[in-house]
Order: sequence, then structure tokens, then C-alpha cells
Amino acid sequence: PLVTTEKMLIDAQKEGYAVGAFNVENLEMVQAVVEAADELRSPVILQTSAKTVQYANFSYFHSLVKAAADGVSVPVALHLDHGDSFKLAMQALRAGYTSIMIDGSKESYEENICLSKRVVDACAPSKISVEAELGKVGGKEDDIDGGEGGLTEPLEAKEFVDRTNVTSLAVAIGTLHGVYKGVPNLDLERLSEIRKVVSVPLVLHGGSGLSEESIKECIKRGICKVNYATELRIAFTEGVKKALSDTPNIIDPKKFTGAGRDMVKQMAMDKIKTCGSVGKA
Ligand code: G3H
Ligand code: 13P
Ligand code: ZN
Repeated sequence: PLVTTEKMLIDAQKEGYAVGAFNVENLEMVQAVVEAADELRSPVILQTSAKTVQYANFSYFHSLVKAAADGVSVPVALHLDHGDSFKLAMQALRAGYTSIMIDGSKESYEENICLSKRVVDACAPSKISVEAELGKVGGKEDDIDGGEGGLTEPLEAKEFVDRTNVTSLAVAIGTLHGVYKGVPNLDLERLSEIRKVVSVPLVLHGGSGLSEESIKECIKRGICKVNYATELRIAFTEGVKKALSDTPNIIDPKKFTGAGRDMVKQMAMDKIKTCGSVGKA
């Protein structure tokens, strides 16, 4: 069924594992991720970015994910990833999303608090969880390197959570979105310091390209949700490309999108195993 992320993440925090949060962009990716979770008896979060809901609106993704979630007994949540405005967050809420990220990390500290709190207050009556971000997870198009000045300050994080009442917090500890150039340099000590003073579940962005070992270490130190986008995109596209090059005369789209789906399912299963959530549903 389709559920909120609240219990999922609290359970993960209590038991010391993480829930994988997978960016989906089409029917096949939705099916693949939900099938992977169902087969491994794991809770799972499907999420769509602002760009993805520009491509096809909230209603399409809500319908796809609801249909997939209703077909399985494991808990499935639908989350807005990097919502960049109050308006977008409210559109997701009205469309039936069960969890929302408001990303005010590009704003000043005070403005981030103000925006995040507004979204929390609007979501609270319907018990929809709200994730905010403090510090900067860089990468991809915005040339922030997550380096100096961009990382989350533990005491600021504590104050931020106290003042906003967000239900989870995305932290910047050196991970990046997209493909890593070189070896990621994670500030694990910082993560532990944040965990000491912040009690809500912590979220790791930029999961693609991190070693299994690094992810497990981050989970040990308090991460309860790990976001994966780029590696699923690569898996889908590789599957499609291979099907098209193996059989150039394919004209039935199901033949190549189905091949993409198989690849995404395998990738999601690997990531769910890394997160340690197998059998937790
Ligand atoms: O963090 C977001 C994911 O990498 C999705 O990227 O904004 O290009 O959809 P996108
Ligand atoms: P990657 O694309 O690096 O996996 O990042 C995913 C993410 O953080 C989505 O919010
Ligand atoms: Zn992210």
C-alpha cells in the first residue's frame, strides 16, 4: 500500500538500517522499484524531482505509484524530491504525495527556516512528512562542490530542526549529485556529530557512485534514507540501448523499455541490500 514515510524512517532509525529512496521517471522505473522491494520484503520510497513532474505532472506519477503500491503488501511511499517552492510542495500534497522535501538550501539560513516551517505547518494536518536540507549537496548543474562552507554545521542543524519541526533532515557531508569525479570525500565525523544533537532521521543525497562500504558506514552513523537517481537512469538507459543494438529491427516499445525495466529492478535490489532493509517490511 501507499503510506507516509514517518513510520518507515523511525523504524529504520530504531533498527539501524536505511530505506532506499529511488528517483523514478516513467512507468517501467516505478514497476521495477516496487517489484524489487516486494521481492526483498523491504519498505521503499519512490520519488520524483521537480524536473520530472514538469515532464509529466504529479497526477500521472501519483496514479502510477498508487497502482504499483496497491498491488504489493510492502509499504511504499511517494515523495517529492528537492521541492524548490512552497507552491510545488502544495501541488504534491494535493496530488496525494505521502512525503515532501522542501529544499531551501540555496536560501539564507533564516529563509530556509521560514520556508521549511511553512511547508511543515501546511503538511502537518494531513500527517505528511517533510524533509528539509541544510548545507549544500552539490554536483550536476549547480557547480557547488559540497566543499568548504557548504557542509552542514551540527549546531545549526539542531536549531534548524527545533525551529522548523521537520520530520527528517538531508545533510551535506561531502556527497554529490550525479557522477563522482574521483573518490568522494565524506566527512563521517561530521555526520556523527550531527546525529548526536539531531534526533530526527537523517537523509543522504547523492547515493549513486558511493561504495557499498561508505553507505553502510553512513547508515551506522545515523542515515535512515539514501537517495539514488543517477545509477537508476544509467541502468534504464543501458538496458534500452542494449535491446536496440542487439535487435535493431525492434519496433514494439515494450521490448526495449522492458529491457530497461529489468536493469532498474536489478539495480534497485542491489541498493536495497546495501541499505540493509531486506525483510524489514
Ligand atoms: O537530485 C535529483 C536527481 O538527481 C534528479 O535530477 O533534477 O535532473 O530530475 P533532475
Ligand atoms: P544521485 O543522482 O547522485 O544518486 O542523487 C540522488 C539524489 O540525491 C536525489 O535527491
Ligand atoms: Zn538530492
